[in-house]
Amino acid sequence: MGEQSPTATSSDKARAARSLSAPEIRDRKRRDGHPPLAMVTAYDAPSARVVSEAGADLILVGDSVAMVVLGYDNTLQITVDDMAHHVAAVARANPQCHVVADMPWMSYHVNESETVHNAAKLIRAGAQSVKLEGGRRRLRMIERLIAAEIPVLGHIGLTPQSLHTMGGYKVQARHAEAARKLVQAAKALAHAGCYALVLECVPGPVAAVVTESVDVPTIGIGAGGDCDGQVLVYHDLLGIEKRVTPKFVRNYADLDTAAIAGVRGFVDDVRSGNFPSQEESYSMTPEQFDALGLS
Ligand code: KIV
Repeated sequence: MGEQSPTATSSDKARAARSLSAPEIRDRKRRDGHPPLAMVTAYDAPSARVVSEAGADLILVGDSVAMVVLGYDNTLQITVDDMAHHVAAVARANPQCHVVADMPWMSYHVNESETVHNAAKLIRAGAQSVKLEGGRRRLRMIERLIAAEIPVLGHIGLTPQSLHTMGGYKVQARHAEAARKLVQAAKALAHAGCYALVLECVPGPVAAVVTESVDVPTIGIGAGGDCDGQVLVYHDLLGIEKRVTPKFVRNYADLDTAAIAGVRGFVDDVRSGNFPSQEESYSMTPEQFDALGLS
């Protein structure tokens, strides 16, 4: 609590003025004639610049950073301070997107006071709202955050922080009873004040029912085409992360192959003496060189 947190810069204010606010996102139901929301993860200034210039509505500084950037096997190792570090880097790029920060595992599970202080660190680092995983059992914390003026994006369905209790990363709500519970959870979260809901890895028809049942937008990932928006992980959609490719990922580029080819070109040119050229080197006048007195 007493630790220093990375703080937002003055440019955050300008960004916040141009990006969608949480209340504006809350109004973006497709059934009211709005186009689908596009959300992409970003974890640092260069990825935030790319996502912003591509015109996305929201940037999610996801705890997926643990896996796609920091090399962990799951999202459970990352801390609030790690997340704040990445949120601040994204905010410094001044993206014209609403920036949502993921609350990591154990940052909103203990008590209300800790939950609010942890979320505040992420807001002070430059986020405009926070996302947390789980259904009805999170209601108390969600209400507390909203009472502290912190907008909350809910996340239900497959919740990766529940890896061990779910017994793996599995499609959720495939059976009628589980689907009914998911709809109830969505309604409860919307009623508690979440401005939108992420639906992860649930059958398309179930996501469609959830979307129809709530007045806030649903943003799907592996949840079919009827949600009010879609989200993908930056490294997945650009083909940077190829070790695991879930069914719902579409590669819009193959940056992994392009990056390896680029670095291999450099390595080959260094070894063959082809890099650097005269044009890539700095010169000094012959007079100054002679003045060294080495010849
Ligand atoms: O951390 C993340 O990237 C996420 C998305 C998969 C929604 O939570």
